[in-house]
Amino acid sequence: MTRPPTVLSTSSNKRQNADPTPTRARSARIIGTVVLPQAVIAATGLYTPPHSISNAELVEAFNTFVERFNAANAEAIAAGDVVALAPSSPEFIEKASGIKSRFVVNKDGIVDPDLMRPIIPERPNEEISILAEIAVEAAKQAIERWGKPVSEIGAVICAASNMQRAYPAMAIEVQQALGIEGFAFDMNVACSSATFGIKTAADFVTSGSSKAVLMVNPEICSGHLNFKDRDSHFIFGDVATAVIIEDADQAQGGWEIMGARLKTQFSNNIRNNFGFLNRAAPEGIGAKDKLFVQEGRKVFREVVPMVSEMIVQHAQDLGVDPTGLKRLWLHQANINMNEMIGRKVLGRDPAPGENVIILDEYANTSSAGSIIAFHSANDDFAPGETGLICSFGAGYSAGTVFVQKRP
Ligand code: COA
Repeated sequence: MTRPPTVLSTSSNKRQNADPTPTRARSARIIGTVVLPQAVIAATGLYTPPHSISNAELVEAFNTFVERFNAANAEAIAAGDVVALAPSSPEFIEKASGIKSRFVVNKDGIVDPDLMRPIIPERPNEEISILAEIAVEAAKQAIERWGKPVSEIGAVICAASNMQRAYPAMAIEVQQALGIEGFAFDMNVACSSATFGIKTAADFVTSGSSKAVLMVNPEICSGHLNFKDRDSHFIFGDVATAVIIEDADQAQGGWEIMGARLKTQFSNNIRNNFGFLNRAAPEGIGAKDKLFVQEGRKVFREVVPMVSEMIVQHAQDLGVDPTGLKRLWLHQANINMNEMIGRKVLGRDPAPGENVIILDEYANTSSAGSIIAFHSANDDFAPGETGLICSFGAGYSAGTVFVQKRP
């Protein structure tokens, strides 16, 4: 089948039902008079680290640290020169966030009250980096489920909140480890990295520059989490996910990307000031703001309406009834946020399993959360049924990817 010339859309994103070219009925998108190839999520993969930490274990380490701090500073606290630290509690964590446990690449260091950080030794340059390693594990599963040779992949995108180093790009290391030709690059849009990665990959596919793209999300969130901060020490976990995005003309089955939309709006409410210029201001090195910090309440209040409106508007523009979506695979940060967004989008209390929750077991895994949810709960879909992958987080940033199961 010959492909019509690709012309960039200048008009609306609206999905049209009437396709004048019968052979393209399932694999093309018509925008005005222009027919574009369609992109498909062809396969996904998940790597889960071996160690899990329960809330009770995390809190035990935190509270031991607090007791020791308060004992060591008893005089200064009594004199009013130092503020005593308050203990954490597993009950608060589960009630406020829905999180019960999290997976991590290293447990020993995190639950050691003397350390409270992961222990991840440096590796020689000749060895694969740990971030690339977990990405490769997730990618291998996606490639196996896809069932095609890596020679059919033309590009690799590593989309994650934190890269292991400044350069060379993590994606290029992943590309080399898997023996993939073409090109690779990193991108970071914090918790929204995966949906931004899917949209970028889909644009490569629909513009004809790659037939298939591997997009990976290795997230070692324990590396940027302040385990000594009561307000946030429970939030994150580690994981890696992978998604293969492919040209619909050659994909078998999979999920048609009906539409992908991205949005950003600047906010200081989720921030991490770690960066290459820190050494130029050594007085700030080791300060709290060089790890993840957030105004959790403000994030909650501002992001829920932003994301709910974005989903409903995008659905409307695609001609999709949001109340008819079979499943929501939302970003996994906070169960109360997901329940509110679920109710606003579906117009009712979501039935069990309709609004997939994996954060109880995985905690917030940044960009990977919505992909874990999608990966873990999509095999009961019949062709034609629709769902939504949606991310939101620092930036603020948000991404919506509506998908439809293909025959
Ligand atoms: N253990 C026990 N109590 C705690 C505690 C802990 N670890 N941390 C805070 N508290 C207490 C506070 O001291 C406060 O007490 P007060 O009411 O007596 O002052 C109370 O619990 C509420 O604290 P607050 O921080 O306002 O909790 P919250 O209900 O807003 O929940 C979050 C905190 C972080 C779970 C929640 O705000 C959230 O998830 N927000 C969105 C986060 C998000 O999506 N971030 C995106 C990251 S990508």
